[in-house]
Parts: sequence; C-alpha cells; structure tokens
Amino acid sequence: MKILKNIKALYLVEEQNPSFKKGEAMNQINTIEHAFLVIEGERIANFGKMSDLIDQNWTEVIDCTDQYVLPTFVDSHSHIVYAGTREGEFIDKINGLSYEEIAAKGGGILNSAEKLRKATENELFEQSMVRAQEVITTGTGALEIKSGYGLSVESEMKMLRVIQRIKEESDLSIKATFLGAHAYPKEYKDNKRGYLDLIIKEMIPNIAKEKLADYIDVFCESNYFSVEETIEIMDAGKNHGLIPKIHVNQFTSIGGIQACVQHGALSVDHLEILTDEDIEALKTGNTIPTILPACSLFIEIPYGPGKKLIENGLGFALATDYNPGSSPCGNMQLVMSLACIKMKISPNAALNASTINGAYAMNLEHELGSITKGKLANLIITNKIPSVGFIPYSFGTNDVAKVILKGKIQ
Ligand code: NIG
Ligand code: FE
Repeated sequence: MKILKNIKALYLVEEQNPSFKKGEAMNQINTIEHAFLVIEGERIANFGKMSDLIDQNWTEVIDCTDQYVLPTFVDSHSHIVYAGTREGEFIDKINGLSYEEIAAKGGGILNSAEKLRKATENELFEQSMVRAQEVITTGTGALEIKSGYGLSVESEMKMLRVIQRIKEESDLSIKATFLGAHAYPKEYKDNKRGYLDLIIKEMIPNIAKEKLADYIDVFCESNYFSVEETIEIMDAGKNHGLIPKIHVNQFTSIGGIQACVQHGALSVDHLEILTDEDIEALKTGNTIPTILPACSLFIEIPYGPGKKLIENGLGFALATDYNPGSSPCGNMQLVMSLACIKMKISPNAALNASTINGAYAMNLEHELGSITKGKLANLIITNKIPSVGFIPYSFGTNDVAKVILKGKIQ
C-alpha cells in the first residue's frame, strides 16, 4: 500500500455521488486539512487527518508537505484524434475570417477530414497518443474522445479503433463517442439523405457490433445537422445502445436542447448561445450542460452563461473541446481560469465542474471525480502553491507537480 502523507489539504472529499452538483452546491467543496491518503492497487483505500493515522509498513511513502491533493480533472468533451493541424486557418482567423467563413472556403472540419483519410491508423495513433500524454501532464485523468473527422464508414471506424488503442495503452479513463454527424462530407454535399442513411444503416450498426463507442454525438447547428436530423440519429444510436451526448447551441439556438433533454441525452455541450427557454428545458431532465470556454476564447464567440445556470439552480461540467479547429488546447487548468475570468464563476465552482460534474458527463461518477473510498486513485499533487484558488488565478501556469492514475505515478 502506498501512502501520501502530510498533505496540506485534501480537496473534494465526498461520499458516493448520486448526481452532479447544481446551484449553490457548485460553490461548495469539502476538504480535510493536514491529511493522509492510502492507495491500494488502483484505488483509494483510506484517507483522513494525519493525527488519526496509524502507521504501517508502506510500500511507498510520498511526502506532500505544503502540497494539495485533488482528484484529477475529467475532460468530458474532446476530439484529440486528428491528423495534422490547422494553423493556416489560424492566420485566416487573425486576418478577420470567422469560423463559419473559414469552413465555407474549404477549411474547418472538412479540411481535417481530408488529412485524416490520408493518414494510416498507426500514424493517427502516434499523433493522438502524444496529445493523450500531454493532457496527463496538466492533470487530466479521464477523457472522452470523439470520432467525426472520418465521415466515411472506413475512416470513422479507423478513428474509433485509435481511441480504443489509446484506452489500452494509457492509464487515462477513456470513453468513445461516434460523431459521424459532424459535417456532411463533400461526396454527399448534394445528397444529404444519402449520408444520413449511411450513418444510420451502416456506421451505427457496424460500430455497435464491434463495441467501438459508448456515445453518439451530432453537430446540431444551423448549416450542419437540423433538430429533426439530430433526433433521427439519436434514436438510431439509442437503438444500438449508444447514449446521446450532443453538440448544441454553439452559434444558434434552434431547439436542439429541448430535443436532447426529451431524448434522454447524457449531456448537451457548447451552449454559447442559450435562451431563457433553453434554460427552462434544462431544468426538466437529467441532462448535464457542458461548457467549453477554450473554444469561446479561440474562435471569439460568447462564453456559455455558467453563472446564470448556477443562479437558476443548475449545474454544469467544464471541458476543453481539444480539437484542431476551435480549441487546440487540452489544458483543464486554463479552462478553469477562463471559466472564472470570463464566466464569473468561483474557483470552487470551476473545480466541481472540472471533476465530479465532468465524471457525471462520462457516466464515471461512481469511479472518478472526487476523493471517495473505493474510487480510482486518480490524483493530482500540486506544486507548493498558496491555495487551490491559485490554480485558476495563475492562468497559463502548470501548477501540477505529480499525477497519479489508477494508483500509478505518471
Ligand atoms: O466542438 N463544433 C463542432 N466541432 C468542433 C470543432 C471541429 C473543428 O473545427 O474541427 C467543436 O468546436
Ligand atoms: Fe466539440
């Protein structure tokens, strides 16, 4: 058994979590000062105050004097499997083109699809694994990864197999999402029905048969997939055991949230443009809103109204949206900083949104997201920082000294 001793404070100590944190509870965090924590195998075996510690022969002792220990971040929305990068579009953006204008001139998702189709499965794995390793260094311990740059049966399956390989070869807890409905590929530009049929009749059954995905996603947005198309794809996914987790309200509010809540989506993600009706709809189900502030920063769109959600008694998760077009960043510490600075939420709310609420958005709330006996020992040991609130304050700095995943120091 390993022991972490002399911890300045242990953060996010919880009993098993029945649901995600909402409203005022978003601002509350339970801590134990001057603490110890015992790891047995992959899991948290015990923790408490140093004064209550009964010493034993530990296999490893980690001294955490002046350091905080928190659960690792749970990043419930990413697209880290992609080929090549799009910094050419970054120049277009600097020169004043919007995300939609860049996509209209052949950039955007279709640009990444072209690159991905040309990459071998091995090349794609190697490029993506670098990103998976990179996010661990800033404290991420669980990651949802989407397909959606293949847009053909073969290339979508290639992406999903790469996600499975990352799951096997890293200590991250990974969930896979099928996002065939990310954009209409150019060969189906004038045959949208044909592409929907391909998704529904070929992609979904094949992916489900090979157990390559946990979730189904759709880019429900003006000029991408309509609410009716989203419902059709959500239903087809559900028939094959894929739970909906949907991109909605990034640029426009077109009724996607209402449809997702009614169809039992696990999460609705983006929410930069959110109406009062959308907020009322969110109060009616168990769907967790997920906000992606790094995307707002990068493509200069509004920030999701996190503060207003809390004032309405709602909760939400924060995630990176790590992808080559709208958020080439996988750093959850920076996401927390942006959430505090731009969305005006408290550091405690940002921390809950990045841990326990993210875990709920990946159906991992019984395994991850808090310091709870029996949960996976996925832990951050911070640098010697003055407080945990220092993490979002010191934006752009990595305040993580060590990451432990499934009981193993990374
Ligand atoms: O979540 N909005 C849809 N999909 C991604 C961006 C994809 C891309 O530009 O490559 C997002 O922002
Ligand atoms: Fe996304």
